[in-house]
Amino acid sequence: MLLGVNIDHVATLRNARGGAEPDPVMAAKIAEENGATSITAHLREDRRHIMDNDIKALKRILKTKLNLEMAVTDEMQKIALNIKPHSVCLVPEKRQEITTEGGLDVAGQLNKITTFVQPLTEAGILVSLFIDPSEEQVRAAAKTGAQFIELHTGQYSLAFGTPDEEEEFMKLNESSRLAHNLGLKVNAGHGLNYENVHRMRQIEDLYELNIGHSIISRAVFTGLDKAVADMAKLVK
Ligand code: PXP
Repeated sequence: MLLGVNIDHVATLRNARGGAEPDPVMAAKIAEENGATSITAHLREDRRHIMDNDIKALKRILKTKLNLEMAVTDEMQKIALNIKPHSVCLVPEKRQEITTEGGLDVAGQLNKITTFVQPLTEAGILVSLFIDPSEEQVRAAAKTGAQFIELHTGQYSLAFGTPDEEEEFMKLNESSRLAHNLGLKVNAGHGLNYENVHRMRQIEDLYELNIGHSIISRAVFTGLDKAVADMAKLVK
């Protein structure tokens, strides 16, 4: 299994003082040097952390893959078609939320998502849909032309160590299996940390995990190089 590192929090810290440090591009380089196989950056509508210039710089310097996380809007589609990241991950976006709260409702807006995905895949960009682990959403995702889904592991992460853990884990496991049978590749992420990540290895054929918060948090104490390397060891 591969490890994608989300560097949004580095940009959040930078923007707290409005200056240039810490530099998310430097963070991406360190992550790559220590086992990350892709870098995710979420360009939000309100630009609260990652900015347009960060995406351009990442595209220029990354040796691995740039995964641009973005909302289903005309503005973001235009930016993606212009920058041409390796992949995009489509997420729902609400201005007030602290982080991406739930999966994209693909089943409820199948035509809209399908139409949105088409020019991206035609431009050679891999498209991933961030969805909750439910049969309905997986089946809908398989109809859109997207090549990947990213299963939302937030509920599993919250339930970890509680009586609900098994049920949440099984949803991920079954959704992953179904997605594979329908020809999709499967990533997963949100809320994963050094304690709960090990169970992801029990899910067959997960391709890549995208992890941000726990790695950047640990980096405050250990340095980013060690925080990424430690997670990469757990994931591989
Ligand atoms: N995947 C997606 C689609 C996300 O929105 C996020 C959070 O930005 C992550 C993965 C990473 O989540 P976390 O920061 O909790 O590791």
